[in-house]
Amino acid sequence: MERKQWNAIAGQIATPAYVFDLDGLRARTERIRSALAGRAGICYAIKANPFLTGPLMGAVDSFELCSPGEVRICERAGAGRERMVVSGVYKEAADLKHFFADGGPLPLFTVESERQLALLADLSGRYGCRMDVLLRVTSGNQFGMDKETVKGILRRQKLYPQLNFLGLQQYAGTQKKTAERIVRGLEKFAAFAAELEQEEGCRVQCLEFGPGAPVNYFHTDHYPGEEEILSALAACLDRLPFEERVVLEMGRFLAAECGVYLTRIVDVKENDGQKYCIVDGGIHQLNYYGQALGMRIPEILRLSGEDDGSAGQWTICGALCTVNDVLVRGYEAGELRPGELLAFLRAGAYGVSEGSALFLSRDLPAVYFYEERTGLRLVRGRTATDPLNSPAAVPVIGAMTGTDALARRTGVNDVVVEQ
Ligand SMILES: Cc1ncc(COP(=O)(O)O)c(C=O)c1O
Repeated sequence: MERKQWNAIAGQIATPAYVFDLDGLRARTERIRSALAGRAGICYAIKANPFLTGPLMGAVDSFELCSPGEVRICERAGAGRERMVVSGVYKEAADLKHFFADGGPLPLFTVESERQLALLADLSGRYGCRMDVLLRVTSGNQFGMDKETVKGILRRQKLYPQLNFLGLQQYAGTQKKTAERIVRGLEKFAAFAAELEQEEGCRVQCLEFGPGAPVNYFHTDHYPGEEEILSALAACLDRLPFEERVVLEMGRFLAAECGVYLTRIVDVKENDGQKYCIVDGGIHQLNYYGQALGMRIPEILRLSGEDDGSAGQWTICGALCTVNDVLVRGYEAGELRPGELLAFLRAGAYGVSEGSALFLSRDLPAVYFYEERTGLRLVRGRTATDPLNSPAAVPVIGAMTGTDALARRTGVNDVVVEQ
């Protein structure tokens, strides 16, 4: 979005708020698609920004979902189950069985442990469905399984006739520093697929890989840019000795650029020579990867109020009661005034969902979509959080459905599917 578009809409926005530029989102996704040119599918990891699930419906191939809540968001946005990849370290029968019960198509599930394997085998057996699964290979953390465990499962795959071991999933971790690292990760992943074929005789039909493609948030960041990453990925996919389907699972790289976090200056002061500006938002609503105590400076637009040219170094603080609520230190600007609107750029990923939103019971920001064709659209109003922070409003356990309550009592180590 350009300044003239901001000038046209800034007055209509109640702060704090997020604005997601859907034209920008679609343009970026289109650039990614055309750079990959059919060499790989695109899966959007909706945790980066669940609001973009609907807008990306026609632009990506599938959606990676890690919780029952994410599944519901994806269903509400109208995605068919065949476009869902149900991932995550915590899967429970009670949350999954609705997929099986109605005999419709099943999502693609990842298997992250022996326990998850038993759970999915049990569900598919009970409901008489054959289903596709991806075995998730760990990248050295609690996610997925190590290579030996994966091989062990494949060696005894005949024990699970209902499961079709379609392929592998791996998430390499986020904000990779160089394009080379991303490429090396994908190559190693494909090499493991080749090893499975040669040593175990298992044909891997799908590699679903989270490359952790980065975004430059701060003036001091030197991550590779969009073009460099895409051309490195395209070249890698061209020479990869893997003929089957590759899917790239991405969040930040798709979503960050399209989002702006808007917050209004509500007070300014000088304490012992340090200029402070207080805004109506804060660190609970803006989450840049790698930001700590406001030490790095993201790109900020002053949407109302001209810079008077005087030199000043400002500490921009949010409205929480913690000294940690510092959005930026050392922001160079002339006089800042109450009422001015600040727009923090590249806030489309993780800000809306990762903040500690309940702290101090401040309202959740409004969320707007912007498209040149339709203009500004409010898609979530400011939402009070105080009901969630007071006992009277907390749902009681008895309000759970019978099966949910029962499922909670089955214990973490037993795989039990209730009818
Ligand atoms: C399994 C999986 N895939 C994809 C992603 C998206 O990562 P990024 O936002 O770095 O693209 C994540 C993020 O945590 C993830 O856990």
